[in-house]
Amino acid sequence: MCGVFGYVGNRKQDLSGFLLAGLSKLEYRGYDSAGIAVLQNGKARIFKEVGELKNLKRALNGRKFEGEVGIGHTRWATHGQVTKKNAHPHTDCTGKIIVVHNGIIENFEKLKARLIKSGHKFKSETDTEVFAHLVEEFLTKKTTFPEAVRRAFRGLEGLNAVVVMSNDQIVAFRRGSPLIAGNGKYGNFISSDIPALAEITDKIILLNEGEGVVLSKDAVIRIRPDGTMGRAKTTTIKMKEVTADKGGFSHFLIKEIFEQPEVLMRVASNEEDEIKEAASLIKNAWGTYFTACGTAAYAGLAATYMFSEIAGRHVNFAVGSEFPYLEDFLVPKSLLIAASQSGETMDTLEAVRAAKRHKSKILALVNVPGSSLERLADYVIHLRAGPERAVLSTKSYIAKLAFFTLFAYTIAGKYKKGVELIRKTSKKMAKLFNDGLESDIKKLAKRLVNSEHVYIIGRGVNYATALEGALKIKEASYIHAEGFAGGELKHGVIALIEKGTPCITVVANDKARESILSNAMELKSRGGYIIGISPTKESVFDYWIKVPDAKVASPIVSVVPMQLLAYHLTLLKGFNPDRPRNLAKSVTVK
Ligand code: G6P
Repeated sequence: MCGVFGYVGNRKQDLSGFLLAGLSKLEYRGYDSAGIAVLQNGKARIFKEVGELKNLKRALNGRKFEGEVGIGHTRWATHGQVTKKNAHPHTDCTGKIIVVHNGIIENFEKLKARLIKSGHKFKSETDTEVFAHLVEEFLTKKTTFPEAVRRAFRGLEGLNAVVVMSNDQIVAFRRGSPLIAGNGKYGNFISSDIPALAEITDKIILLNEGEGVVLSKDAVIRIRPDGTMGRAKTTTIKMKEVTADKGGFSHFLIKEIFEQPEVLMRVASNEEDEIKEAASLIKNAWGTYFTACGTAAYAGLAATYMFSEIAGRHVNFAVGSEFPYLEDFLVPKSLLIAASQSGETMDTLEAVRAAKRHKSKILALVNVPGSSLERLADYVIHLRAGPERAVLSTKSYIAKLAFFTLFAYTIAGKYKKGVELIRKTSKKMAKLFNDGLESDIKKLAKRLVNSEHVYIIGRGVNYATALEGALKIKEASYIHAEGFAGGELKHGVIALIEKGTPCITVVANDKARESILSNAMELKSRGGYIIGISPTKESVFDYWIKVPDAKVASPIVSVVPMQLLAYHLTLLKGFNPDRPRNLAKSVTVK
């Protein structure tokens, strides 16, 4: 993953501050360490620190470094431990070639062994440093700096974006990993994503696979994979909704949870034509496949149940990383629906590329406009969830569920009924918040905070809710939480239940109701402490969390108590709910 950022332009009084501000927008991509390099009179000054960007800011202690060229990086570690030595930027033997990188150089060991043999000295354990030395190898008297970077990049295996600074230029290349350039009043920029440039410029240069750019003070030159060059044309991309603050909340996570009723209203008021077009694509496809990762994947799993129940349609689902192993079923008339908040998740993009190899059509559901997924897709629906900053995905999950509900209703010829259901669900969710759900959850969190394990069961569409609820709890509070299909308990899971083990049971007013209550009973008779998320109070519950009866939209409301529980457990444990360890908002490596 990692975020890369760079600037070349007229001398900036506070270039270091400018780089830090750019990186703050990219920190969602990783916060294991951060670093910047500022070029002053041909000499690079590099500053790096382990941990969040604030640690680097603290280390700089108010010092400002001026300069005309600078690069920065925020890291999600892949190769080499989280140490200062392994933090980017990395340099070659001369210290004059400075690199930041996003991706994985799959052949780095082979390259490193060769470089060591020819006398290069390595300072870190990273794959990235190999690239700095590789450029050094190619940079002979006869080769220009951009050409040396291109040749070095050509030798890399894997999906990578590299940004290399030397003298007064930045040269950057991408293959598979996201990278865009920008052209503004004060200079030229390079960044992992468009939102990081939103407040600086809307003149964006999109790079195709294998392409690169040379950024100098006055120009951005495109380098094609074969080495030919041309002036880079800009595209105007306005990012209206890109800035987000906590709006009075202590964390983005809680703010985004509370925004969900509003998101549902926005989904319900989406262009009718767009929904109808998506529905007719699904109707006419020779097989529809869903793919996504993490939370988005659970929305995809829920969709398989929704399409079956509401539209009587079979759809297939596989997580992004597994999808390429199932691609043999695809034909040109197949439809792949790829859902992603960021639109940059590598496994989802790889699934889309696999489908494109079969000439199948791609429908993308994406929250961040201008993302890589959007550019790869044939049809795009924007999730309209607004910027999601917390690493834990909440409101974009709700938006995906709402869109899938609308698609299913529209396929069934009941578009209006679908819209009505989402509107009503929005109101019910708002009432749930107003009726004091959070204070109930705070009490429950106090009860569960010292638990080692939490088990969550659901059936039917709420099997997906159980999985998503468990993901929320474990990723932020680090309490081991597992979601199961209620019926699977007796096949093994029940062996884990001891006296007092917290067992959350997701109950909806649907055809799974009786069976899931029986499963709760089975847990209770083994000593389980039963927490019921349900519209009705049931005798089996030891603790009842009342949710409204949202009919077939039950997964949209039933997940909310677990989102809140994850938040409050995390606070009680003293962790930062917006920045869980080892995770990143957008995972752009395989
Ligand atoms: C990361 C995030 C998850 C997210 C997943 C997919 O793992 O931490 O919260 O669900 O990526 O992200 P996407 O942007 O594709 O929805």
